[in-house]
Amino acid sequence: MRQWTAEQLDAITARERSVIVSAAAGSGKTSVLVERLIRIIADRDNPVPVEKMIVVTFTNDAAAEMKQRLSVSLSGLINDRPFDKWLSRQHAMLGNASISTIHSFCFDLIRDNINMLSLASDFRIIDETEENILKDSVLKDLVDGYYEKYPEMMEMLNNNFCGNSDAPFCRMILELYGCISSIPFFKNWLKGLDGQYDSNIYLQEYIKKLKNTLFVCSNKLNTAYEKGSEISDDKLMTLLSDDKNIVNKALSVLKANDYEELSDYFSCVKYKNFPAAGKNYAYPEERQFIKKIRDSVKETVKSIADNRAMLVNARDDIKRHKEIMSALSQIIIEFSENLYKAKEAKNAIGFDDAEQIVLNLLAECSEDGKIIRTKLAEELSEYYQVIMIDEFQDSNNRQDMIFRLLSHNGSAEEYGNNLFFVGDVKQSIYRFRLANPDNFINAVNNAVPYKENDKRNSYIKLNRNFRSSEQVINFVNYVFKNIMTESVGDIDYNKNEYLIKGAEFYENNRNTHIMLIDKSDESCEDTEAVCISEKIRRMLDEKISVSRDNGKSSRPCEMKDFCILLRNRKKIPVYARELEKRGITVS
Ligand SMILES: Nc1ncnc2c1ncn2[C@@H]1O[C@H](COP(=O)(O)OP(=O)(O)O)[C@@H](O)[C@H]1O
Ligand SMILES: [Mg+2]
Repeated sequence: MRQWTAEQLDAITARERSVIVSAAAGSGKTSVLVERLIRIIADRDNPVPVEKMIVVTFTNDAAAEMKQRLSVSLSGLINDRPFDKWLSRQHAMLGNASISTIHSFCFDLIRDNINMLSLASDFRIIDETEENILKDSVLKDLVDGYYEKYPEMMEMLNNNFCGNSDAPFCRMILELYGCISSIPFFKNWLKGLDGQYDSNIYLQEYIKKLKNTLFVCSNKLNTAYEKGSEISDDKLMTLLSDDKNIVNKALSVLKANDYEELSDYFSCVKYKNFPAAGKNYAYPEERQFIKKIRDSVKETVKSIADNRAMLVNARDDIKRHKEIMSALSQIIIEFSENLYKAKEAKNAIGFDDAEQIVLNLLAECSEDGKIIRTKLAEELSEYYQVIMIDEFQDSNNRQDMIFRLLSHNGSAEEYGNNLFFVGDVKQSIYRFRLANPDNFINAVNNAVPYKENDKRNSYIKLNRNFRSSEQVINFVNYVFKNIMTESVGDIDYNKNEYLIKGAEFYENNRNTHIMLIDKSDESCEDTEAVCISEKIRRMLDEKISVSRDNGKSSRPCEMKDFCILLRNRKKIPVYARELEKRGITVS
């Protein structure tokens, strides 16, 4: 019987609320999810049948593996409780359970509700290449038609985007469509953009930012002034008061929202020179401190002044942008409709369409942008008792909304109370496919730390790593604490994120090696592959030992113990060749 940690046990046993488990690689997230599933199926008081569960994984392989793990666990339980018909039935039903990728789930839901759609029931899944060809031809027809129907609009777009040919413009439309269509009900979203331009929201945002920046400058100057008074340097104090007046005047002009005046003001801002140190050069460090602050404020004010034309022209710019945006929105909306019709004519839909169709089955978007669950969503949310999602950091906005809509008492904005997500923002790898790890971050931020009696949606963090030895863990922590910050990885890799050793390893003195290869030796361009292959050969020959039985014993390493990770596939043949040269088989 496995020894679960206290946090893992919480994640396995927490009920009557949604639970989000945020934890690093190898901390047992998937194991916990499977164990929770088994315990819910086999619960003697309140068992849930497998057909009333949705379990979403991100690949077909992961789904197959999960079914396999469940099957093994259920078989074990059936051995212990041979007369338990319930368990045998669940085991038999496992094949049909909704343990699948989000896309298989969507396709099944579409098939179940095909009568509500204009698709034929034998629709097929279009492949990416075919869809790309279709996209190009639909867009070309659309753009050609627009030149005839809306010559003025096309001239305006031409002037802004086209250059000599339509190709860059079409590429941009396809790119925009790819991004924007991942927003649930994106057509309504696009239609709502006009209002944002009318309300001057962009200009106000910019002004707000400027005000904040100037406030920060003002505070910095206060600090400098205090330092000046500490050393009783009257000259510096006068200088800093003058500087402060400059910033305060700018702030008061900004308050009046008079951009022309602001621009005039910035064009004639003049600073006095920093007083020279003179003969009795005292307090050099303090003076330096003050000078540094002053210079940084001057620099900031200068960059605002340099951009002042932007403010004066802002209103005109925004008017032009609105015109461009509404033309682009119109094209994108019409393009998406034409593309969908073209696919319908071929009786084929893509993965993105499947999500979009399911969203339309589950919710309606009113004119004012409010998204409300349909009757079908209400029914399904009652029917499904358990919804579990592995690798939630890789879900996109549409999928996130599908989960909300399907959950008990959920809505387009809120998760209901029967979800169980596991994931790790540090492992989000599908941003290029528009996965949005913010969904995961927001879900954690909107939940409370788990406490047994607090039935609000809760989060649990697991930080013990059961997959790697202490040396590997230390190395991973060392690398990531130095390179991962909120701005580059959405998360600060600090003590809260560190991996902590969870498993014992027999071999306890193996450190991470970094091999620095001097590539200046041009005689062999595949030096890396050669070095790595030689190293593996050496380790095999020396019979370096590896752990077995959860760290209780060891055995000499074998070829299957090695793994080489590469950035891309290009070099695989080179590695295979070098390894095979040394008698190492590659699988
Ligand atoms: N409490 C535990 N004790 C021992 N091993 C564990 C424990 N929890 C998980 N493991 C093992 O750790 C490894 C990683 O687990 P996994 O569930 O795949 O992690 P994750 O999904 O977080 O990457 C697996 O081999 C699993 O069996
Ligand atoms: Mg996992």
